[in-house]
Amino acid sequence: MTQPRHFLEIDDLSRDELFAVLDRAETYKDAQENGEDHEDLEGQTLGMIFQKPSTRTRVSFETGMTQLGGHAVFLGEDDIQLGHGEPLKDTSRTLSRYVDAVMARVFKHDNIEVLAEYASVPIVNGLTDDAHPCQTLADLLTIREHNGGFEDVSVAWVGDGNNVAQSFAIGAALAGIDLTVATPAGYEVDDAVSERARELGGEPATTADPVEAVDGADVIYTDVWISMGQEDERDVRMDDFEGFQVNEELLSNAPDASVMHCLPAHRGEEVTDAVVESDRSIVFDQAENRLHAQKALLSWLLE
Ligand code: CP
Ligand code: NVA
Repeated sequence: MTQPRHFLEIDDLSRDELFAVLDRAETYKDAQENGEDHEDLEGQTLGMIFQKPSTRTRVSFETGMTQLGGHAVFLGEDDIQLGHGEPLKDTSRTLSRYVDAVMARVFKHDNIEVLAEYASVPIVNGLTDDAHPCQTLADLLTIREHNGGFEDVSVAWVGDGNNVAQSFAIGAALAGIDLTVATPAGYEVDDAVSERARELGGEPATTADPVEAVDGADVIYTDVWISMGQEDERDVRMDDFEGFQVNEELLSNAPDASVMHCLPAHRGEEVTDAVVESDRSIVFDQAENRLHAQKALLSWLLE
């Protein structure tokens, strides 16, 4: 049996493959805008396991499958036996006998690796505590659209060095984007992520000063300070992230920068309402691009 291709982290795609998926996403986006159908996944089914809530990931994957002539099945953890004691490895082997691919949003990154180890169909990471590569695909598509490419594009990440930041750091290195990451001490991206970014030719700069990070940036990117599963850390995190809010004052240091956020945004915490609503904000283009990027990824994986 040939091993399926999985998508657990953004560098499961080579640079050429990444660019091919982004090109395909652009084709799907254009086709949709022109009212053309691309039923490339006719008769195929995507299983979607969710251990955490979701708006964008759930709806974009399900809609994407429908638009490509396929079908998606929502599998909330509590609705399936996984949430009632059935091991992941059995879930993985069982689903592999029914569906053509599985997208999973889980807590521990190890869990998506177990799913992949036992699956005979592609496993797609729909977010773990450590990574969110589908988000990175959409982010790269959005950056390319708004900046005409990746060359000489400079992104400042401001906030938590979390799952979204980690996949973005690796994706930025793959794409050739200059990245500066500003986090409070103790919230940096993992060393292994920085190391991987360097192996891929990136040189992510790090700082604890948001103003320094955004100097000369084309894009300022932030995400929540309290990710799903970290609710007990709220008080400590609110203190630790003081000074890292993406607000109009910070933006005044980067007059040409657009603002990205993977959403959901917690206005008044990591970003202000005024910034999300301003004409600098491209957050809904990012959200839309989840659909096009994931359609491209699925059709590429299932080809
Ligand atoms: N950005 C993102 O993954 O959003 P959801 O949690 O709504 O899926
Ligand atoms: N870092 C956030 C991203 C949500 C899409 C979280 O993990 O909750």
